[in-house]
Amino acid sequence: MVQPLTSFVRTVLLFIILHRSTLAMANVNIQCAKPASIYVPRGRYLLGKTKFDGQNCKNKAITIRIDGTLVGPTDYRVLGNAGNWIIFRRVSGLSIYGGTLDGRGKGLWDCKASGKSCPIGATEAGVQNVTVKTVTFTGTQNGVRIKTWAKPSNGFVRGVLFQHATMINVQNPIIIEQNYCPDNTNCPNQVSGVKISDVMYQDIHGSSATQVAVKFYCSKKYPCNKITLKDVNLTYKNQPALSTCANARGSASGLVKPSSCL
Ligand SMILES: *[C@@H]1O[C@H](CO)[C@@H](O)[C@H](O)[C@H]1NC(C)=O
Ligand SMILES: *[C@@H]1O[C@H](CO)[C@@H](O)[C@H](O)[C@H]1NC(C)=O
Repeated sequence: MVQPLTSFVRTVLLFIILHRSTLAMANVNIQCAKPASIYVPRGRYLLGKTKFDGQNCKNKAITIRIDGTLVGPTDYRVLGNAGNWIIFRRVSGLSIYGGTLDGRGKGLWDCKASGKSCPIGATEAGVQNVTVKTVTFTGTQNGVRIKTWAKPSNGFVRGVLFQHATMINVQNPIIIEQNYCPDNTNCPNQVSGVKISDVMYQDIHGSSATQVAVKFYCSKKYPCNKITLKDVNLTYKNQPALSTCANARGSASGLVKPSSCL
């Protein structure tokens, strides 16, 4: 039971790699003295519900490098019933580099819109009270992002705090998209029923890879409310960065660059 994390994790990953068509169910107990380090090579790997728990850990840091793609179970009910896919608990200093995580959540969302009885993961009312802080994004497509699927929903996202984030050449450092439509199928030109409110961006700084560094795209039907920018300093090459807002309401305080469109 008490195994050094690295070898245990290696075992778990080996299991995943050797059983590409199988689901790996892993509970990884971190018993580590050194920071844990996990590498996922190129390829697609099925991964079932997985927990990384740092409770008994001297060093609670964990680094994951992903060159490939981790894929959730085909049957959306598996994760839907579990309520989550990959969980980190009591870790401090989590770094994730590269890679793609595909939870295959589409079926769950389709179920939710259909009115059938769906797994608990699909019936939760919303997302509330989330803090993301002290994060560095380097060369990524998105920085701090909230996206909601352009489908009817009674859900909500509220009470989100993004704090102390550094952006290094990030395409969308700050973005809310209420019209997210994967593959542009079944939802173009629709709006999301998920209501977004009470989102705070505090001390977000660094460089944007595109001129529009702050994007709030919300719908006329369900505008985003109580969006707050506080001490934001995003630059774009040698030109002024811009922000664009659609149906977003809120306020800005402290130094906010690009100037707020809220
Ligand atoms: C979210 O935070 C608010 C304000 O602190 C609190 O009233 C509410 O109970 C919290 N909700 C949950 C689900 O924790
Ligand atoms: C904003 O960031 C730029 C680039 O990092 C820096 O030169 C500038 O001093 C910052 N402005 C403030 C007021 O902190």
